[in-house]
Amino acid sequence: MRDEFLEQFADCHIKVFFDGTLGAGGHARALLEAHPEIETYIGCDQDPTALEIAKKNLEPWQDKTVFYRGNFSELSECVAELGIKAVDGFFFDVGVSSMQFDQEERGFSFKKSGPLDMRMDPSNPISAKEVVNEYSEQELGECIRDYGEEPFWRRITKAIVEARKKKPIETTKELADIVLSAIPNKGKKSIHPATLVFQALRICVNRELESLEEAIKQALSLLKVGGKMGVISFHSLEDRIVKNVFRAAAEPPRSDRGRKIGSSPFKVVTKKPITPRLRETRTNRRARSAKMRFLQRI
Ligand SMILES: C[S@@+](CC[C@H](N)C(=O)[O-])C[C@H]1O[C@@H](n2cnc3c(N)ncnc32)[C@H](O)[C@@H]1O
Repeated sequence: MRDEFLEQFADCHIKVFFDGTLGAGGHARALLEAHPEIETYIGCDQDPTALEIAKKNLEPWQDKTVFYRGNFSELSECVAELGIKAVDGFFFDVGVSSMQFDQEERGFSFKKSGPLDMRMDPSNPISAKEVVNEYSEQELGECIRDYGEEPFWRRITKAIVEARKKKPIETTKELADIVLSAIPNKGKKSIHPATLVFQALRICVNRELESLEEAIKQALSLLKVGGKMGVISFHSLEDRIVKNVFRAAAEPPRSDRGRKIGSSPFKVVTKKPITPRLRETRTNRRARSAKMRFLQRI
């Protein structure tokens, strides 16, 4: 959704931009090309491999780019360290990148066998291996139920707990096979039967939902008048957070008695989320569930 992303910022004069999910720098490149007035482009990513790739891809803009290795939920500290008081634009293209999915040694994919890892930040002390093998049955069940919204969470949790009694579960393939064995009517699903369990573990390991909510709230307090914030999310749990935090920010303040007093400094620009065009979903299957929302300080 690069064109739609650029369209949203087309009428903005941008001096300082914070990209919380730099990845390989695809959106960064597009925005830097379209907005030569940008003075500081902060590219944040918790994955050092992604940052290395982005640094190379953004070499032509090396005098404008600042790279931050860390979680976007630390954005206030990052911006303060740079002596910046306000930001013209924020962008979060959340979740795992295709690059991360495709590296089997990162353990995100059930299609390729790799270690049970799933950490976007390799210095994170908790990987999927700890969650799968060391969480109590209750904690594991809640993770699969709440973050995967997996209807067979009870059966799957039991199967994992039984399997790990015999030997620790080490690989993505072992886990996918256990999930497969626990789910009835495997052939009827339109997605791979392990998809929701892998989604749940990834969200849990990387604390994805907490970080997203925290980052959006911090960004609201740093956004300049006229500035915009955009978020692309890939599943309903993330999108719900974006929708609710944006909506709450745009609500007028209320008195103790609940009466509206004044107006909010924020406006939700996208009443309905922007979704990818058919052309994009044909060439990029992962884009199918993407939703992009924008908010503006007025
Ligand atoms: C979908 S990719 C972004 C792709 C990027 N927009 C591009 O055009 O190349 C998501 C990236 O965000 C990073 N990421 C996800 N959650 C993060 C977080 N909480 N803090 C920092 N980086 C995060 C991932 O490591 C990954 O590299």
